Amino acid sequence: MTLQLIKTPFEYKVREGKIINPDVIDFYKSVPNYRTTPLYSLKNLAKKYHVAQINVKDESKRFGLEAFKGTGGLYAMAQVIAKKAGLDTKKLTYQQLQTPEIKKIAASITFYTATDGNHGRGIAWAAKQLSTHAVVNMPKGSQEIRAQHIRDLGAPCVITDLNYDDVVKYTSEQAKKDSNGILIQDMAWGDYMEIPTDISDGYSIVADEFLKQMNQTPTHIFLQAGVGQFSSGMINALIDQIPKEKLPIITIVEPETVACYYLSAKIADGKAHTVPGSPKTIMAGLNCQTPSAISWPIIKDSAKFYATLSDDVAAKGMRQLANPIGDDSKIISGESGAAAFAFVNEILSNPNYQGIRNELKLDENARIIVVNTEGATDPINYQKIMKES
Ligand SMILES: Cc1ncc(COP(=O)(O)O)c(C=O)c1O
Repeated sequence: MTLQLIKTPFEYKVREGKIINPDVIDFYKSVPNYRTTPLYSLKNLAKKYHVAQINVKDESKRFGLEAFKGTGGLYAMAQVIAKKAGLDTKKLTYQQLQTPEIKKIAASITFYTATDGNHGRGIAWAAKQLSTHAVVNMPKGSQEIRAQHIRDLGAPCVITDLNYDDVVKYTSEQAKKDSNGILIQDMAWGDYMEIPTDISDGYSIVADEFLKQMNQTPTHIFLQAGVGQFSSGMINALIDQIPKEKLPIITIVEPETVACYYLSAKIADGKAHTVPGSPKTIMAGLNCQTPSAISWPIIKDSAKFYATLSDDVAAKGMRQLANPIGDDSKIISGESGAAAFAFVNEILSNPNYQGIRNELKLDENARIIVVNTEGATDPINYQKIMKES
């Protein structure tokens, strides 16, 4: 069981002014089956660990998709269709996209994407909601059950023999070859920025909800990162809604085998760096080797710490969430979903990490928030992990 923490080597420069397109919240209010997901305060666990609060926002309950990812996919897809149809993208409602005329435009588009599971499932679901088409590719080693979830939503999905970065390149070429094809990727690079920005803005509904659900602002937020678009979406929402001096301490958490933000902070030359090879981790959603170009600058300027955890720490966190103390809520959390909680759980329960605990100022005044970003999206592995001790 290992974990690591480093302080940011970069200057803390939180941006001024509103960042996120303010229509995200109104758009979601117009989506028929949109519901706020639960926020659980684990009171008994917080007491045991001598901190004020441990809050877990449960995205396993989002849209019946078992993960937060659909929040980005639906919003970005809606924006693409609205632009093509000449609608006002700043005041878009779900209903505007349901007229026969707009549905016909939507039906002429095919959205291509690469995924390790949750993003592709969100895209397949969004395509179904908006009467358009999706084609999904997965990297080697992806679980068949995750591909099947995508196919069940009507999108063709293949598990390729490419690693994540290469499957993104392959899918991008596939989209270019289709005259009606559009790449809808949850990662930005070069001049591919607009759709990933909409995806990250769509995710921000998660933070908007938990800030409304919490009675006080959090003092600490731990965010698990793959390419970092989830983290940057949460950070942008926090910056938009909380005065600068009250912003929580932000820690980015990654699997130790594929920690591109941690690596970039360690190299400390201000650039984003790629983890080489074909790394392995049970945290499939976080198995991303390169930071997203839109997320790196936001995270670099606002994260105070970068952390890593081993797979067994993540598994222990999953078991802790599934076996609560007393009347704390039971939370079903998958490998990537539990990562941020698992990191916190280990430093608060293992006396060897007292130094890290002190460095993070996790004392009796700490109001911690983490997001359970997925449920048991790989049920066989979930059961296996539950049986281990
Ligand atoms: C469950 C889960 N959590 C977190 C993430 C990380 O999101 P990002 O790649 O935007 O950092 C992912 C990405 O796929 C995911 O599936």
